[in-house]
Amino acid sequence: MNFHTRKWVKPEDLNPNGTLFGGSLLRWIDEEAAIYAIVQLGNQRVVTKYISEINFVSASRQGDIIELGITATEFGRTSITLTCEVRNKITRKSILTVEKMVFVNLGEDGLPAPHGCTEIKYVKDQFQEEGIVE
Ligand SMILES: CC(C)(COP(=O)(O)OP(=O)(O)OC[C@H]1O[C@@H](n2cnc3c(N)ncnc32)[C@H](O)[C@@H]1OP(=O)(O)O)[C@@H](O)C(=O)NCCC(=O)NCCS
Repeated sequence: MNFHTRKWVKPEDLNPNGTLFGGSLLRWIDEEAAIYAIVQLGNQRVVTKYISEINFVSASRQGDIIELGITATEFGRTSITLTCEVRNKITRKSILTVEKMVFVNLGEDGLPAPHGCTEIKYVKDQFQEEGIVE
């Protein structure tokens, strides 16, 4: 699993207990996972279909730097299944895990459409294909 995105926990992200508000974290995860799905499937019309049980393992506090990790576990016909972990960048302690997030690839009509993808594409390889970097 690659941990691409880092977030700095700021005052506006806290709950009344002074720790990271779960809703803020879920918003970041949904966005990160959607971007991952868009990049993998090469289509911006991708929607969140299903999010499994979410386990808030440990709290995060103001000033913490956290990192979000996402990886694809399954490519369906029109869907992609991801798994997610968020951890503290400094302590490497796990903050949250989401076992399963399913995104559906849509066509222009807004209906599920086959995406034709079967395995994870790595950014380095995509850029190489397009001749942008050597
Ligand atoms: C996404 C949506 C178009 C799918 O419609 P649908 O009638 O469920 O479509 P299908 O039954 O053809 O299923 C599409 C894919 O989702 C998968 N799927 C459907 N329900 C699922 C569930 N509960 N859990 C996991 N996967 C599911 C199917 O297995 C299928 O994948 P596959 O083609 O890879 O096998 C529709 O449910 C929808 O518009 N939902 C709202 C999405 C949304 O607004 N999200 C939040 C904002 S982004």
